[in-house]
Amino acid sequence: MVVFWSRSHAMAQTLLVTGGAGYIGTHTLVELVAAGWQPFVFDNFSNSSPAALERVTRITGQEIPWVAGDVRDAEALDAVFARCRDAGAPVTCVLHLAALKVVGESISRPVRYYDNNVHGTLVLLEAMARADVKRIVFSSSANVYGNPESLPYDESHRIAPTNPYGGSKAMMEQILRDVATSDADFGAVVLRYFNPIGAHPSGLIGEDPRGIPDNIFPFITRVAVGRLPQLSVFGDDYPTPDGSGVRDYLHVVDLARGHVKAVERALAEPGWLALNLGTGRGTSVLELVAAFEKASGIKIACRIAPRRPGDIAEAWAAPAQAAAVLGWTAELGIEDMCADGWRWQSQNPDGYATGE
Ligand code: NAD
Ligand code: WQD
Repeated sequence: MVVFWSRSHAMAQTLLVTGGAGYIGTHTLVELVAAGWQPFVFDNFSNSSPAALERVTRITGQEIPWVAGDVRDAEALDAVFARCRDAGAPVTCVLHLAALKVVGESISRPVRYYDNNVHGTLVLLEAMARADVKRIVFSSSANVYGNPESLPYDESHRIAPTNPYGGSKAMMEQILRDVATSDADFGAVVLRYFNPIGAHPSGLIGEDPRGIPDNIFPFITRVAVGRLPQLSVFGDDYPTPDGSGVRDYLHVVDLARGHVKAVERALAEPGWLALNLGTGRGTSVLELVAAFEKASGIKIACRIAPRRPGDIAEAWAAPAQAAAVLGWTAELGIEDMCADGWRWQSQNPDGYATGE
């Protein structure tokens, strides 16, 4: 299935967004369109659906052209680069969001993760080289840091992932670094996201994981909407102020806006640059639950459960580099994240399947 824009809609430059139908991708599309960019989505819909792109069109009033394809498929990528070029709107930068992202699954199925994520990135880089596209914004993760040597994590923190998902991200970062070293015209902006949560304030797009969520926020919203019975709080005996785990949650709309800044930077300068995208503030599990209850007016059934293997007590970002280099800081607070995330889930109790 292929949807292309008509020639009249074509602008001078295209941004190719791999994984653009996903949670962060859809929010990024909204901000890219608002900033005047023409994104083009390439997604295999392994963890998303075209319905999400229709919702982006409802928000932006602009059709988002897309192709169903896998980043490991060189021919499919070549065809997209050629089509954009032939339409008079060549790709000038790739935003590479496509990846598998579930830490636990990566431990049980490491080859699947390295193949999808690392092999996929190599095929994409080869296709970019054939199409002479030399700029990329890459979705990395705070997961690459592993156990904190010191907090907050700054970008010079040791890279020591403790699971194959984080390992795949660290490898892709290194590959991009080596390509930038080999070619003085190549530019990669590597974004290390902390914990994105929440949804677009319209309530039209949001996080819609398949199966039982691994991440805390969609778990909470599904308890609130009655799809799950209760939240297990993984540990109340950490050396944190209230004993529960502390993370740097950031609003997905702030994160999406960071991508707009990162594209501008990637197009302006070659080289390799890694930046944290986080708020610099930690919130505990119990604080997050309390904030969600306040925003939604719904009591979240909780039980204290054992620590989840592999979890760390605390993690938060040093966000100063992104502020200095991109002029980006997170603006929205936990209250906004909870209110917007609840609007999405309450208006779409079955996610994108609601109303089908
Ligand atoms: P998501 O699963 O909602 O989106 C990823 C998208 O990529 C999906 O639409 C999926 O169908 C697509 N995809 C996966 N493999 C593909 C392939 N081989 N070819 C084409 N498309 C493929 O996840 P998300 O939360 O939006 O994450 C986006 C990126 O951000 C990922 O790279 C993820 O690792 C990274 N990240 C996410 C988080 C988070 O907490 N959500 C945190 C840090 C980093
Ligand atoms: C947050 C806190 C849990 C679920 C992972 C990846 C990271 C990034 C974001 C991709 C922790 C606690 C959780 C639950 C709970 N993804 N928790 N009950 O583990 O910080 O990060 O997702 O890049 O790379 O590692 O996020 O949302 O799973 O957990 O108590 O049912 O919530 O123990 O303290 P995490 P999370």
